[in-house]
Amino acid sequence: MNQASLHKKLASKELKDLEKADPQALFEQRLHTNLPLITDLFNTLYPDPEHESHLKKLPGLLKSLFRKRPEELKIRDLNLLKEENWYQSHKLTGMQLYVDLFNGNLKGIREKIPYFKELGVSLLHLMPVTTRPKGENDGGYAVNSYTAVDPRFGNRKSLLDLTAELRENGMFLMLDFVVNHTSDEYPWAKKALKGEQKYQDYYYMFPDRTVPDAFEASLPEVFPATSPGNFTYRPEISKWVMTVFNSYQWDLNYTNPKVFSEMLANLVNMVNSGVDIVRFDALAFLWKEIGTISQNLPEAHKLIALFRMCLQVVAPGVIFLAEAIVSPHDIVKYFGEGKLQGNECDIAYNASLMSLLWNSIATKKTLLLQKSLKNVPQKPDSCTWINYLRCHDDIGLGLDDGYIAQLGLDPWMHRRFLIDYYCQGLKWSPAVGYKFMENHATGDSRITGSCASLLGLEKATRNGDAAAVETSLAKILMLHGIILSIGGIPFIYAGDELGTLNDYSYLEDAHKRNDSRWVNRPRHNWDVVSQLNDREKPSSRIFEGLKKMIAQRKKTPVLADHNNLEIHDPGNPHLFVFERTGKGRKGILVIANFDEHPRILDIRLLDDLGYLKDGRVKDLLKGEEWKLTSGLVELGPYELLWLIKP
Ligand code: GLC
Repeated sequence: MNQASLHKKLASKELKDLEKADPQALFEQRLHTNLPLITDLFNTLYPDPEHESHLKKLPGLLKSLFRKRPEELKIRDLNLLKEENWYQSHKLTGMQLYVDLFNGNLKGIREKIPYFKELGVSLLHLMPVTTRPKGENDGGYAVNSYTAVDPRFGNRKSLLDLTAELRENGMFLMLDFVVNHTSDEYPWAKKALKGEQKYQDYYYMFPDRTVPDAFEASLPEVFPATSPGNFTYRPEISKWVMTVFNSYQWDLNYTNPKVFSEMLANLVNMVNSGVDIVRFDALAFLWKEIGTISQNLPEAHKLIALFRMCLQVVAPGVIFLAEAIVSPHDIVKYFGEGKLQGNECDIAYNASLMSLLWNSIATKKTLLLQKSLKNVPQKPDSCTWINYLRCHDDIGLGLDDGYIAQLGLDPWMHRRFLIDYYCQGLKWSPAVGYKFMENHATGDSRITGSCASLLGLEKATRNGDAAAVETSLAKILMLHGIILSIGGIPFIYAGDELGTLNDYSYLEDAHKRNDSRWVNRPRHNWDVVSQLNDREKPSSRIFEGLKKMIAQRKKTPVLADHNNLEIHDPGNPHLFVFERTGKGRKGILVIANFDEHPRILDIRLLDDLGYLKDGRVKDLLKGEEWKLTSGLVELGPYELLWLIKP
């Protein structure tokens, strides 16, 4: 049993009647329940006796942080604890957006709550809203503060107003906690630049290249094209600072327990604005060690669990999303292993599903998708995925070379093909995407572009090719229909619900020009929204299609995540078939055709799984039931079915 379930159990009597519950007493109970684990984690990370005083101060810190938590949120915590893992619900669909690009500022987001509700979105991920350097700032991921709202977006009050209104509307909020690094303008960094040793010790700083070189021998590069190397020389202090991401993002030194305590306070202050899910940014990088790639290290996991166990004491309703774009084998570790199972992150990005779906679109085949998904290690029952197609970042081809080879393909050639397919290296490809962080030496690259442009809508529109527009729409809806049904929280990237194309305006901005991820960070087009009643427009058809599927998802409890996903062999390399098995409810069988031609499925599969009754099947998406007249089901190009068990 993980700590969250333990807290639920211990508080079960109080949770039944919240009027009578005493949040303070429940806080004490959580503190005492988690303290042995917290102590254990702290001592493993900071075994040096000189660090003991930090551990001793931790309960006091947690108490003072709890005192600062608004009363309303203390009650919300208990309400969320009461509900059965709300984040696994079929009623939840998320949207990720940039506040300024979506609608100006935080007030503007509030005004659009009816828009989210119309589409069916009930969870928002707002990209960073705190202060950041004026010039390059990695879209706000270089933070000058963890709590001060950037005046362009509003102020603390507008954030609080927004979160209160979201709560009133039964919605949830996710914000980033940029835990791995601060900007070089963060108060600690500024003091470090003035020569204050205390704050230099908050970062990794070295007087010469000896240690940096030792690190570099095994450290990969995150942004090789624009920010090569992992250290930046700062002449003000004649020191090399560790900067794994951009040169202006300084890696925090978590071997220093003061950094942990201060960042914990920052985290709690941030969630006290009304955050339900903390997106733990770049958490794989939290611990560094010479001779390793300094990603996914066991200490990083312990540190995340330590943050989580402390936050759970203060704000038990708040949960963690792991922002780690790593292999399936590595990602499940962020749910916690052994006695930490279920005590790290509750949610993780399903990056491998994402890249496998793009792989299937390019190859028109699903063999790699099936093979890979069948081998994803099982996640704990209390955890879930974020399933997504696009986000503000690039698409990394995190495919398993071993599986590619088992399909008889050369992994290097296969990747080349995918890059060429999506990044305009093949004349016949419908995709209009761009390379990101191309490595000329290895030919390796990541891919960027908007969902619609990568799926052919930009080219089809440019060429006035009506048939290609239809194909593109079918692909867009099919892929969204998969993430809406495969198990986890479906996340729509703002703009994709309208089929927004690539945005080239970033090329005119000197601070963005070098980062092609900006091609997929468009301004929301409210003119298009105002024309949604013109049903024939591609944007209207996408919006309506998504809206219908989200509404259907909400009516279908079996789509909640109960670890009830089974991948079936369709006996046809172009089809993808998975089932959300009943576990007491009516199951759903999802069938998708990744080919541009009609494809067939043997109905014996439907019969064996119990989806056929008197020769009839029922599809929830079209709301139709029909009789199968032959032994085969035919799916049109990029058609998607959600068959319900009779
Ligand atoms: C995460 C963000 C990405 C950012 C990086 C550094 O990966 O998604 O946009 O560049 O962290 O903070």
